[in-house]
Amino acid sequence: MTVDHIGIVVKDIEAAVPFYQKALGLEVSHREDVPAYKVKVAFLQAGETSIELLEPTGDGGIAEFLAKRGPGMHHVAFGVKNIGEHMKRLVQIGLPPIEKAPRDGSRGHKVCFLHPKFADGVLVELVEHA
Ligand code: CO
Repeated sequence: MTVDHIGIVVKDIEAAVPFYQKALGLEVSHREDVPAYKVKVAFLQAGETSIELLEPTGDGGIAEFLAKRGPGMHHVAFGVKNIGEHMKRLVQIGLPPIEKAPRDGSRGHKVCFLHPKFADGVLVELVEHA
């Protein structure tokens, strides 16, 4: 189990990236428009993990988060080997993921989310790399 990435909601990815470059020496490793989630993302590699910046491109969960809470930390993602098996186990122990089955995330990966009520207000993402 590894921390795959930390998701941060921003108003404007282009305005947000220079902080990570100048203050921390991080570089953008991947950019993607994800129309299904009305969001565009940029990943900045930070050693073994990365920072995922999420900017809303339309009405949806990320736009709602931004309107309600402002920019800031949104989720912590953990890397798993077999997401389907992991989800089954979570259902068995009474911690069902929000999704019934893994869904397609950015970078072609399979993902699911665990409700923040299970983790002291933290939205947890599980991600299996493609
Ligand atoms: Co994420």
